[in-house]
Amino acid sequence: MLAGKRILLIIGGGIAAFKSLDLIRRLRERGAEVTPVLTRAGEEFVTPLSVSALAGSTLYRDLFDLSDEAEMGHIQLSRVADLVVVAPATADLMAKMSKGLANDLASTLLLATDTPVLIAPAMNVRMWDHAATQRNLATLTDDGIAVVGPNEGDMACGEYGPGRMSEPLEIVAAIEARLADGPLKGRRVLVTSGPTHEPIDPVRYIANRSSGAQGTALARALSALGAEVVFVTGPADVAPPEGVQVIKVQTARQMLDAVQDALPVDAGVFAAAVADWHVTSASDKKLKKSKDGLPSLAFAENPDILKTVAQMKKGRPSLVVGFAAETNDVIENATAKRKRKGCDWIVANDVSPETGIMGGSENAVTIIDNDGADTWPRMNKAQVANQLAARIAAALA
Ligand code: CTP
Repeated sequence: MLAGKRILLIIGGGIAAFKSLDLIRRLRERGAEVTPVLTRAGEEFVTPLSVSALAGSTLYRDLFDLSDEAEMGHIQLSRVADLVVVAPATADLMAKMSKGLANDLASTLLLATDTPVLIAPAMNVRMWDHAATQRNLATLTDDGIAVVGPNEGDMACGEYGPGRMSEPLEIVAAIEARLADGPLKGRRVLVTSGPTHEPIDPVRYIANRSSGAQGTALARALSALGAEVVFVTGPADVAPPEGVQVIKVQTARQMLDAVQDALPVDAGVFAAAVADWHVTSASDKKLKKSKDGLPSLAFAENPDILKTVAQMKKGRPSLVVGFAAETNDVIENATAKRKRKGCDWIVANDVSPETGIMGGSENAVTIIDNDGADTWPRMNKAQVANQLAARIAAALA
């Protein structure tokens, strides 16, 4: 299954580095080509000679090694692989990755790469449980980095708990899953995301509190399952995912145009918090308080993008998924909204300020379809996205 796949394996400095020698062997048995990178701390645990001999490849160790650079520059090294695997991923490496530090070869490669990355964390249980590591982990998953493990068990330091690196065969399985053709291969999926900005004048606008985090996570999750994703986003707080087609818009009307241009698609997921109204009296010059007095704004309703697509007579996507942002009677309102808009599923969430969902990192959703309502436990937005992407893949299969 891994025949011809190129793996860049970064070995960090932890006692689990010895398992990475076996990992190299298992990967090569399956036909993968392994290019190893050993950190300075990694050299304390395994020897450069054994890594290089097992990999049957040049070992890269130094950012400023002229002969290595002549053979293959470090930027190129970060990009020629199909997958970058960090095993063991120490607390220090995870911290560097989450902050974007680049002060040695491993961290520089990880910052320069546009290839998917999988990490296998390994560290002492207290280091793993530390708020800083958990914060870094959340940042890394938000950045689209896949994680395998750690496992729970006895540790080399004599303690017990989560922190043991996954076994080589578990890491191989995670690598295979990551490199396999996903269930959405060949499917084109549209995702709308973020708020829209409706101008009052060239410097002022009406907006809402959406950060775009849920829509961005969804686009990333759909892409990870192999979909060709068209991502139409308003001005969001979070960066769009890698590897998807990004179309940036400001207003609801621009979003509708972009969506119509993106059709046909197999599925449309409408996660954007679209403004319901735009200002018809918008000025093309900045309003002045001395001259113009108190402004009076006139509004008109924006087009309903979800409803327009869900009710298309010809060329409607086979699956149309809406979101319902509600502050009260969530299920009842969302069920009515699904009917009114004509979408297949509606993902309902409670955006009352006390839930911290709008603009926050977690979400608690109920999926409503023709068969009823399915409430999921509260989890982070990346997890909601992964589960929703899997449900979409199952529906399109
Ligand atoms: N939506 C859309 N275009 C709009 C308004 C909403 O595509 N002009 C989509 C959203 O992306 C979301 C769904 O419709 O998938 C519901 O959005 P929501 O704001 O909850 O509902 P509204 O239609 O605005 O209804 P209300 O404000 O009355 O709750």
